Amino acid sequence: MKLKQLAVSAVIAVAALTATGIALGDAGSGEASPIYGVKLPDGYRQWALIAPAQEAEPLNELRAVLGNDLAIKAYQDSTLPFPDGTVLVKLAWKHSQSPEFEPASIPGAATTVQVMVKDSRKYAATGGWGFGRFINGKPADEAQHQTCFACHQARVQNHDFVFTRFAQ
Ligand code: HEC
Repeated sequence: MKLKQLAVSAVIAVAALTATGIALGDAGSGEASPIYGVKLPDGYRQWALIAPAQEAEPLNELRAVLGNDLAIKAYQDSTLPFPDGTVLVKLAWKHSQSPEFEPASIPGAATTVQVMVKDSRKYAATGGWGFGRFINGKPADEAQHQTCFACHQARVQNHDFVFTRFAQ
């Protein structure tokens, strides 16, 4: 009887884990990124701002990093590592000059949307993060996805592989 109960609990636990994996990895719409299978998350454009950033030449871009509710809560509570289900999205645009007011920098054409999804089990080999880079809504090629983790690992391993800090 005891053994049978154990077996039943094990099956339930595995089913729950599998369901979580599917929910985290497959949430979103459109094509999935190579290697990681990350999609553009639904409704990300309405997510809260974590911080803006500016990148010098040659990219010369303005950026904004947004997070889902779990991400924002983790930042507020200084939770590290970020919990499973955290999703971070980075929007990027060409840096352009306001035609109406010269000293002002404004976003020009959109360039990429980049996504990081936390699922410590599914993405155990890359610090628990799955990566996706999208151009016009389509995932970039596999070669580009091979670069993501290496740079984040080299620079911000001590901050759960995440560069962006919350801008108060
Ligand atoms: C050469 C270094 C480098 C590579 C390669 C790189 N990133 Fe990043 N990433 C950064 C930096 C620096 C930031 C901080 C924000 C900024 O300056 O744009 C960042 C920020 C991010 C963010 C916002 C969360 C955070 O860590 O701040 C996401 C999402 C992201 N990158 C996804 C990707 C994806 C997807 C790839 C691969 C397609 C990738 N990155 C490749 C350097 C890199």
